Amino acid sequence: MPAPFLESERLWYRCPEPADAPEITGYLLDPRVRRNLAIGRFPFSEAGEAKWIEAQAKPPLFDGATDITLCVGIRGETRILGGTGLHKINWLHRHAQWGVYIGRPDQWGKGYGREVARAMLRYAFATLNLNRVMLRVNADNTGGIKAYEAAGFVREGVLRQAMFVDGRYVDNLVMAVLREQWRDTQ
Ligand SMILES: CC(C)(COP(=O)(O)OP(=O)(O)OC[C@H]1O[C@@H](n2cnc3c(N)ncnc32)[C@H](O)[C@@H]1OP(=O)(O)O)[C@@H](O)C(=O)NCCC(=O)NCCS
Repeated sequence: MPAPFLESERLWYRCPEPADAPEITGYLLDPRVRRNLAIGRFPFSEAGEAKWIEAQAKPPLFDGATDITLCVGIRGETRILGGTGLHKINWLHRHAQWGVYIGRPDQWGKGYGREVARAMLRYAFATLNLNRVMLRVNADNTGGIKAYEAAGFVREGVLRQAMFVDGRYVDNLVMAVLREQWRDTQ
């Protein structure tokens, strides 16, 4: 396994490789995992996922990148647990949109979601010098909201009926952490 890029208490984080595509595709095709993910609406294949991973690959120094994508695993295991990313990075206003999935539902509720959130906030604020990290979450994604609040995200507003899930419209919550607020918790 390539050396991890980041580590947190129980988890490692590294760039996805095209060879990871079958494992990741398996996770993202699970209806329980993709229900609350924007990518879950259309069919996709291992070949498509491998192409997307290749398109994400960047040389080690890159100016103006808008996306940083990582896969996550449990320390001591080579198997992937899920993925996370900072997206729509804006280097002028210093904000980004954060996303996460834990691809193995039997591992939900063990605190991994909030551990990933904390690690990515640390990376965003202490390494990338961002000032604001936001996310959008379906209002009925109770587990996700609990995990994000535990990591310090606060609710900023509601986008009413912004998502169509399982035959009905669902509100989207906007949540965010500011660096000044994050510093207070360190
Ligand atoms: C959302 C997600 C990342 C949370 O990860 P996680 O590892 O379960 O998060 P945590 O264990 O840190 O926290 C989850 C909390 O919700 C609770 N929980 C877990 N599943 C739940 C459910 N189905 N309903 C209600 N609460 C739930 C857990 O008990 C825990 O609460 P606690 O603080 O009282 O113990 C994970 O469930 C996931 O990947 N889901 C599918 C994809 C997804 O929804 N991604 C996020 C899109 S915004």
